[in-house]
Amino acid sequence: MKFSQSAAALAFAATALAAPSPTTPQKPRQAGGCSSAVTLDASTNVFKKYKLHPNSFYRAEVEAAVAQISDSSLASAAAQVADVGTFLWLDTIANIGKLEPALADGVPCENILGLVIYDLPGRDCAAKASNGELKVGELSRYKTEYIDKIVSILKAHPNTAFVLVIEPDSLPNLVTNSNLQTCQNSASGYRDGVAYALRQLNLPNVVMYLDAGHGGWLGWDANLKPGAEELAKAYKAAGSPKQFRGISTNVAGWNAWDLTPGEFSSASDAKYNQCQNEKLYVEKFGAALRTAGMPNHAIIDTGRNGKQGLRREWGNWCNVNGAGFGRRPTADTGFELADAFVWVKPGGESDGTSDTSAVRYDSFCGKEDAFKPSPEAGQWNQAYFEMLLKNANPAF
Ligand code: BGC
Repeated sequence: MKFSQSAAALAFAATALAAPSPTTPQKPRQAGGCSSAVTLDASTNVFKKYKLHPNSFYRAEVEAAVAQISDSSLASAAAQVADVGTFLWLDTIANIGKLEPALADGVPCENILGLVIYDLPGRDCAAKASNGELKVGELSRYKTEYIDKIVSILKAHPNTAFVLVIEPDSLPNLVTNSNLQTCQNSASGYRDGVAYALRQLNLPNVVMYLDAGHGGWLGWDANLKPGAEELAKAYKAAGSPKQFRGISTNVAGWNAWDLTPGEFSSASDAKYNQCQNEKLYVEKFGAALRTAGMPNHAIIDTGRNGKQGLRREWGNWCNVNGAGFGRRPTADTGFELADAFVWVKPGGESDGTSDTSAVRYDSFCGKEDAFKPSPEAGQWNQAYFEMLLKNANPAF
């Protein structure tokens, strides 16, 4: 993952740019989801009806973490994290293998299983930490070995509800980082790949949100319209799929929901960005999406935004030091365009390695405000997890 700042093209771009928890009584498991087929109505907020499922993969990570904590009150707080709904990242072809066990663990009929679709060719084109397995040009592998495989599993589980976040950072990178050769090389594969994913994953038991970065990225005045048009183009290229609901924002991010004034409101370039918190971003980018002709409801990742004032710059995206878990998943956002606060990034998993000799080392993970040492992106960092827990807001 990489969060780019404002458009590089802009003159002012200086800053721019899993097993049951011991503490909770478990409901009886229902391996097949509901007893009949699920039909999600993407013209409504499905989070009013369904609760984001605490998947067994994150539960296992958290339980292993709990076992390492000797302080008993911290350990019992940590155990509660396993009951928080999070998304399961299908970040490689091999990791599609996580899906069947997560389903076999049982997704109750009132829950919805969150999945992140994240394996485009030339992934993470403006950074290094999350460069993926598929190379630019391997779009046919993306389609047949990745998307088609996921589609067949979702079709085989018609009684389970799924919510998908589609390809974090991909289209936002095309909007603001087209000056980079890597992003130029990735562009056509991202556009075709995202459209293919949206078209093929358009199943009755699925609701989809396409990633839109965050307020410190596409929220700059000059980025709102091109950003909305880039996303809308993918939605239309996919045939305006019925199960498409809108956007995800702040995925693996740090921005506050409605902090006023926003964290970077006194920065010298703040006058060029009216989206100084995610609520303003959802409102203003949402308006641009409507104009561009795309559904504009949003889900917002609040997994790690419990504490503010930690980043030197808005664009610092890697393992922010001092961070805390944020608001728990809920449909109670107080804002009609915001369907739900969700946890997309599983708190405790790294954003990128701080090992300067690693192939995927990105200098953002070596910045002053980044937590060190940190393992490779996606790997568990026990110390970071404990920090998120201690700084959680609201507390566990
Ligand atoms: C990594 C993925 C990982 C995800 C969730 C991303 O930054 O690249 O490998 O699954 O974060 O932790």
